[in-house]
This record gives sequence, structure tokens and C-alpha cells, in this order.
Amino acid sequence: MAIDYNKYPFDVRIRHHVSSNLYFPLNKQSIKITETYPPLVENVNWAEYFGDSKAPEILDIGCGMGKFLLDYSLELKNQNILGIEVRIHPVNWINEVIKGEKLPNVHALWYSVVNRINFIETESIEKIFYFFPDPWFKEKHKKRRAFKLEFIEDCYRVLKKGGTLYLQTDIEDVYNHQLKLLNKFNSDNQKFRIYTPDSWDFPKTDQEIHCIKKSFPYWRLCVEKI
Ligand SMILES: C[S@@+](CC[C@H](N)C(=O)[O-])C[C@H]1O[C@@H](n2cnc3c(N)ncnc32)[C@H](O)[C@@H]1O
Repeated sequence: MAIDYNKYPFDVRIRHHVSSNLYFPLNKQSIKITETYPPLVENVNWAEYFGDSKAPEILDIGCGMGKFLLDYSLELKNQNILGIEVRIHPVNWINEVIKGEKLPNVHALWYSVVNRINFIETESIEKIFYFFPDPWFKEKHKKRRAFKLEFIEDCYRVLKKGGTLYLQTDIEDVYNHQLKLLNKFNSDNQKFRIYTPDSWDFPKTDQEIHCIKKSFPYWRLCVEKI
């Protein structure tokens, strides 16, 4: 079964980056936050999101328009996948597709991961996908990148032993930045096994398809919790 995306026109014109506030935690905001900022999430009733009422075992962080999230959900058996995305319009659209296709094991959550993912239980996750994050090229914008030591700590906490954080990026500087932070996190004692995968058996993301069409190079890393 494949999803016919033509059935779900996306007719909202979205600017790529809505407001810079979205990329900073709520407790660091100096201005009044409006309804454009995703609400904090503390506890989740998974029964509202998934047919079997169980917590997700797979996360797709920064799921964008959700092609990977939705296509991968079709391959899963008895596992739930949660997409997390900071922009509301893609989230609403993904959830419309989920409703239209009656997909019981996938949901998109409007949330900024810079507020930490404390609503995900410790050692409950098998796979985390963090694919093609926004690059934020300019030096003064790099602090908007969500991939920080706190993010790595969160991934480490929620992953089961043997669980893996999967990374892809088309920006070499982002790849180097991620590798540097991961090595720093690993420096006291080896918490993760970091390696370049030989094989890759996952559906393609929207950005990956774009890279393939344009012949842009991209980099992959697997980060397995020891
Ligand atoms: C370049 S897109 C890639 C989308 C998708 N993963 C793909 O590979 O096609 C990066 C996505 O990450 C989202 N994002 C950026 N910062 C985020 C944050 N702090 N929390 C959640 N999502 C975030 C952006 O809104 C955007 O949709």
C-alpha cells in the first residue's frame, strides 16, 4: 500500500522559517509569546494519537512535510511513530493525511524540541530519525540549530540500549558540527557507537529526494546507544 499524496493538496503558502523565536526554548524568550509558538508538552495521553494507545517507539524529529514519517509508518508492524515538527501547517497537513488514510500508528506533534522531550519516557525508543535539519549557515544563526549537547542528552536518555539515532544532512558543516558534539558527549566514557552505515533501508525524505534530483551530496551517521 502506498499513499496517494495527490489526494491531499497542500495549499497553504508557508515561509520556510516563520519566526526565529520557534528555535529557542520558551523559558529563554524575552518577548511575549503568541499563538504561533508551539505549546509546551508535559504529559501525553497516547490513546489520543495511536490506535493501540501505546507510546511511540520511533521518533522523527523535524519531520517537515512528513513523507518519510508517513511512508515509514506503513512499513511498521505493531510500532508507533511520532513526528515532531515546529511549523504548524505541515503538522496539520500530515495529520489530515493520517486521518484520510486511517493510519493508526503515526501522529505529528506540533512542538519545538529545544523545549526538551521530557514527555518521552526514559529508554522507551528504538529509533530516532533526525534528517536534514535546517542548516542555519550564518555564524550568528547557528544557535538556532536544535542539535546541541542537551539534544544529544535527550536522545541518549530516551533511547533503549542498542537503540539508534539516525542522522542525515546535505550540509558538510552540519555533519562536522554533529560529529564534534557527539564525540564531546562520548569523551568521558563511551556512551554511543558512532559509525557510517554501509546499508540504508529506509524510505526517502522530501529533502533527500531533492538532493538526489539535484545530485547534491549528503552524509549519514548512525549513533547507537551502548
Ligand atoms: C530542512 S527540513 C527537513 C524535513 C525532513 N526531515 C526532510 O528530511 O525532508 C527541517 C525541518 O525541521 C524543523 N525544525 C527545525 N527546528 C525544529 C525544532 N526546534 N523542533 C522541531 N522541528 C524543528 C523545520 O521546521 C523543518 O520542517
